[in-house]
Amino acid sequence: MRIVIVEAFGGPEVLTVREVPTPEPGPGEVLVRLESVGINHADLMARRGAYKLYSGDPPFTPGLEGAGVIDAIGEGLPTDRVGQAVVLDARAPRRADPQRPVEGTYRTHYVVKAQWAIPLPPEVPRVAAGTLWLSHLTAWGCLVWKQRLAAGAIVGIPAASSSVGLAAAQVARHCGALTLGLTRFQTKAEALKILPEAAFDWVIATHNDDGTMRPWYRDVARLTDGHGVDVFFDPVAAGTYLDYEIRCLAQGGCIWIYGLLGEPGVVDLTPLIRKRAAIRGWVLGELLQDAEAATVGQMEVLRCAAQGIYAQKIARVFALDEIQEAHAIMEQRDHIGKFVLNPNA
Ligand SMILES: NC(=O)c1ccc[n+]([C@@H]2O[C@H](COP(=O)([O-])OP(=O)(O)OC[C@H]3O[C@@H](n4cnc5c(N)ncnc54)[C@H](OP(=O)(O)O)[C@@H]3O)[C@@H](O)[C@H]2O)c1
Repeated sequence: MRIVIVEAFGGPEVLTVREVPTPEPGPGEVLVRLESVGINHADLMARRGAYKLYSGDPPFTPGLEGAGVIDAIGEGLPTDRVGQAVVLDARAPRRADPQRPVEGTYRTHYVVKAQWAIPLPPEVPRVAAGTLWLSHLTAWGCLVWKQRLAAGAIVGIPAASSSVGLAAAQVARHCGALTLGLTRFQTKAEALKILPEAAFDWVIATHNDDGTMRPWYRDVARLTDGHGVDVFFDPVAAGTYLDYEIRCLAQGGCIWIYGLLGEPGVVDLTPLIRKRAAIRGWVLGELLQDAEAATVGQMEVLRCAAQGIYAQKIARVFALDEIQEAHAIMEQRDHIGKFVLNPNA
């Protein structure tokens, strides 16, 4: 089989494709031929050496999710599973042993326990099947499982063009909430206003074309008739950006921080007292540590994807040999939606 290996932390050039023996599934295991693997921001951070909790030390193989077709089964499994389309359980590619590096899904074939090869509903587009956990399950876990988002709430979604931002808007809208997308530049704001997968009630640009930040909290006050935002679901959350979020947070509101995209800076937290508001952190790993919630969440995401309530906006599909190019393009942050790796293209 073919596999991507990061030999040393660095730029996209450290992603190397190698040929290694295809593993045999052991008793109770299946061998999945992967055809859809989400390329995630966490993979870029891991490659750079900025996310060792995920990667461990090199050499390692990135990739936190995937889907494909069962190619072979181990002892004790029914033969009709061969040829079945499956998605890997979100817990499958995590680091099982903290002493060892992650064995991720940037590879043509992946061995998992049979119960972690979840049958894929036929209505879910195959190209998107291996990309739904880091986007939609991350958003569902925070907004539905933790926040218990109420109908009518106003949800602010920074990085609106990212795969997680687009997913969050779909999840929030399905709860009956109103969605406010925040994207850096006007060009993306215009594109998001007409994108079918973008479930935003409003979209605003937070930056001027020269990269300076606009006083966008005034737009929020105007659009929400002074109410403000009840819940921010935010991967930027630092410096002036966070300061503005606190300014336009509604009474009793909450800012969920789930990423590290912003630049640190001075933030005035004192309005939180008057608003009796909160800032909290969120990682998908919290959901995955709760066996029941992990199962319920994954089933719900697949159900909504099958019914077209959740839809992945695919920005581009890359072959394994194009993985360096995929990381380089993703780092430019000009895309809208999800980059997908098809290791068997
Ligand atoms: N906590 C968790 O469990 C978890 C799980 C999954 C993902 N995440 C995080 O979710 C975020 C998005 O992931 P992704 O894979 O969807 O990435 P992505 O598609 O590469 O998203 C990048 C986007 O973030 C926005 N952005 C980047 N830098 C920014 C800045 N300095 N200020 C404002 N916006 C900025 C831009 O969107 P605009 O052009 O629209 O502004 C950019 O296109 C990442 O931070 C990732 O680490 C966290």
